[in-house]
Amino acid sequence: MILESIKLKQFKNHSDFFGQWLSGFNFIVGPNGVGKTNLLDAIYFSSMLKSYFQNSEKQMIQNDKDFYRIDAKFLENGQNYQFEAKSASNLRESKWEGSVIERSTDHIGRIPIIFISPDDIFYFFQESEERRKFLNQTIIQIDPIYMDHLMKYSKALKLRNALLKIFNPALDHSYLLDSYDNYLIESGSYISKKRAEICNLLDPIIIQFMAEISGGMQESTIEYKTQVDQNFGDLLLKNRTRDIFTQRTSVGVHKDQIEARLGKVSLREFGSQGQQKSFILALRLAQYKLISSIRKKSPIVLLDDIFAKLDESRVNNLLALLEQEKVEQCFITDTHLERVEKLKSQLSSTSSIINLNIT
Ligand SMILES: Nc1ncnc2c1ncn2[C@@H]1O[C@H](COP(=O)(O)OP(=O)(O)OP(=O)(O)O)[C@@H](O)[C@H]1O
Ligand SMILES: [Mg+2]
Repeated sequence: MILESIKLKQFKNHSDFFGQWLSGFNFIVGPNGVGKTNLLDAIYFSSMLKSYFQNSEKQMIQNDKDFYRIDAKFLENGQNYQFEAKSASNLRESKWEGSVIERSTDHIGRIPIIFISPDDIFYFFQESEERRKFLNQTIIQIDPIYMDHLMKYSKALKLRNALLKIFNPALDHSYLLDSYDNYLIESGSYISKKRAEICNLLDPIIIQFMAEISGGMQESTIEYKTQVDQNFGDLLLKNRTRDIFTQRTSVGVHKDQIEARLGKVSLREFGSQGQQKSFILALRLAQYKLISSIRKKSPIVLLDDIFAKLDESRVNNLLALLEQEKVEQCFITDTHLERVEKLKSQLSSTSSIINLNIT
C-alpha cells in the first residue's frame, strides 16, 4: 500500500496543501516550522485515525478555523483507495472508499505504518508509558481484538478509579468494583498475553538488526514484566483496601514494565547514548519487519527530522537497512537540501525530493 496523494485543508498549519508521491523514498525538505512534521502526522492519521502527537482533535484544526479535512489516495496492487477525514468542533468522521468508518478497529491495519521521530529516543528510555505505547502501536496494527480489549480495559480502569474516589461501603460500591474488576481481568489477561507474545517475536529481530547496526552480536532484548497472570483477580482483591485508600488502581497492565536490555544490563540505566540510539532504530526496524511479515504488506515508514538526533553514518545505515527490507514507501523530512541530495544519491531505490513552502 502506498500513498499516492494527500490534500490537507486547515490541518494544523496547512491551510491548503496538496502533495503527490511515488513509491520509494520521498524526501520532504523545508525550513523549521514549515509543517513537515504536521504533514507526516496527517499521513499517520490516515492510517491510525489519530495523531502521533496529540490526543485532542481541537489541536489539529488550524488556529481560528472551525474544521479540518484530510483527503488521501492510496494505491495497492493497481487499485486505488480513498480515505477522508473531517472534523468540526465535536463532530468527527472518517471514510474509506466513501463509507463511514464506524469502528477504528475496522480501519487500523489496512495501511500499516511506522513513525520514527527523534524524540522517540529520549521518551522511550524516560517514560514507561511510551514503552507501553510502542507495544500498543505495534499490536493494534496486527490484531483488531487487542484494540477492543485496550478500549474496554481503559474504560473499566477509568470507571474503577472514579468509583475509588467516592467509595462508600454502605452503598452498593463493592458490587460495582467486582464488576469493573471482571472487565479488567478479562481484557487485562488478553493484553498481557499478547504483549508477552509480541515481545518474544520482536526479540530475535531486534538482535539481528542490532548486529547489523552496531556490528556486534550483543544480545538485545525487550523484557516484559507484568503483574497480570491467572492470579490477577486475587491480586486486585488483595490490593482493594489500599486502592480505596489511595483512590487509584495499583495493579494491572497499565503498570506493565518493558525494559530494554543489552546483554545483562539495562539500556536505560547503563547504555551509552550511541547504544540507546542503535537500539531504538533496531526496535523500529523490528516493528517494521514484524508488522510487514504478519500483514503481508510493507508498512509506510515516516522518518521525521532524522538528522536531529542521528549522525550521518547512522542515517545511511538506517536507509540502507530499509532498502534491504524492501520498504515500499518512505517519507523523510529534513531542513537541509544538500544533506538530502547526498542521501538520495546513495540510494538505489527510486527517490524524489519535494520542497515544502508555507501554504
Ligand atoms: N492547530 C494549528 N494551527 C496552526 N498552526 C499550527 C497548529 N498546530 C501546529 N501548528 C504550527 O505548525 C508549525 C509547523 O510545525 P511542524 O512541527 O510541522 O514544522 P516542521 O517543518 O516539522 O519544523 P521543524 O523543522 O522545526 O521540525 C508550527 O509553528 C506550529 O506552531
Ligand atoms: Mg518537524
